[in-house]
Amino acid sequence: MENVINQAKNTLEKYNQKSVLKLFNTLDEKEQETLAESILRVDFDYITNVYKESMKKLDVDESGIEPKKALVKANMTEEEKEVLYALGKKVIESNQYAIVTMAGGQGTRLNHKGPKGTFKLQTINGEKYIFEILSETLQRANKKYGVEIPWYIMTSEENNSETVKFFEDHNYFGCNPNTVKFFKQAKLPLLSENGEVLVGEDYKIKEAADGNGGMFSSLRREGILDEFEKKGIKWIFSCGVDNILVNMADPYLIGLALNNNCEIATKTIIKDYPQEKLGVVCKKNNKVKVIEYTELPEDMANEINEDGELTYGEAHIMFNLFSLKALKESATYKMPYHVAHKKNSFLDENGKLVDATQPNSYKFEAFIFDSFELFDDIAILRGKREDEFSPIKNATGVDSPFTAVKMYNEYWSKDREEE
Ligand code: UTP
Repeated sequence: MENVINQAKNTLEKYNQKSVLKLFNTLDEKEQETLAESILRVDFDYITNVYKESMKKLDVDESGIEPKKALVKANMTEEEKEVLYALGKKVIESNQYAIVTMAGGQGTRLNHKGPKGTFKLQTINGEKYIFEILSETLQRANKKYGVEIPWYIMTSEENNSETVKFFEDHNYFGCNPNTVKFFKQAKLPLLSENGEVLVGEDYKIKEAADGNGGMFSSLRREGILDEFEKKGIKWIFSCGVDNILVNMADPYLIGLALNNNCEIATKTIIKDYPQEKLGVVCKKNNKVKVIEYTELPEDMANEINEDGELTYGEAHIMFNLFSLKALKESATYKMPYHVAHKKNSFLDENGKLVDATQPNSYKFEAFIFDSFELFDDIAILRGKREDEFSPIKNATGVDSPFTAVKMYNEYWSKDREEE
């Protein structure tokens, strides 16, 4: 064990982890052993490199950005809609379609203890958990198309067992358990603002999921891409866990991808106002790209086009469809990491718990939409916000349970004709 402790200390020295080294020296033998084992599991070369590369990208490059037009569903003729609908319906009905819900996030802004999907909402249809609402959406689609769409739920090391148990405790909310599969995404250490790893109260290095873009490599690592191949699944829809209006089986989106001969299709909504905190789909150096709201220059964010709409207003809402080929290509692509400034509690160099009230640490995340640039073009379908997008991000204010339930209630208080 002495060997492990020495190795851990040497590693901390080598990678200039001064605070952790100081903390290490204040711990008793048992605590040191736990921390040493955790330290030796960290790939410091990798995370140091990720830190350096991610910090560089704070300089935003604004060149080569152009708008990218979407097909606006509300402006399509009935005949145009029928063509797309028929194409997409055929894919779903012939069991060539699967869904991945990305539920590996930390959900720090919501301040809910437990996975975001286990958050309970008071709706006009009664008390419902977020996962319950998604399960109901899936079951409506299954009934409509006469199939059992396989549902893959991406979790993280932090929330996997709680998520699985939650589904078991609630009898999968009526879904067939054989059609629901959980898989864990990879994780990366969190870093302090000085680039040091953080130690938790359990004397282990704090780690978090590697971003929703970790979906591709995780699907490959867990053998799910092979499973898709064997099952004949050709199109995979991926969505966040936190949009309670998400239509998980939209034949129009599938139809558009097929009609446009694209390997990826994304559903957008138009931004409500230029500063709305949503990334926008546009082109950069002739490739489709999502530019985050923080990275879009203000004059561009405010620009209005000849139709009187925001030129850069096509908002990405985590509503993406991939062909199996696109997933395979993305799974071997080295995704860039983005830095998120997040609140994380940790032990300081004296062993005192620092309880974060403000963002105080960095999380490194790959973003699903960075795979878009692997392809010449992707299809974009603009839907209506009130029918498609009711996100739960914050505990109060915008995009909170309050606003999401309001939209959900409005949606369900209308007579819903099956489309
Ligand atoms: P967000 O970027 O909104 O993050 O995730 P979050 O974790 O839900 O919330 P905050 O930022 O900590 O408050 C968008 C979607 O991507 C998933 C989330 O679960 C959500 O569905 N996600 C995010 C993952 O699956 N894995 C990740 O590592 C990050």
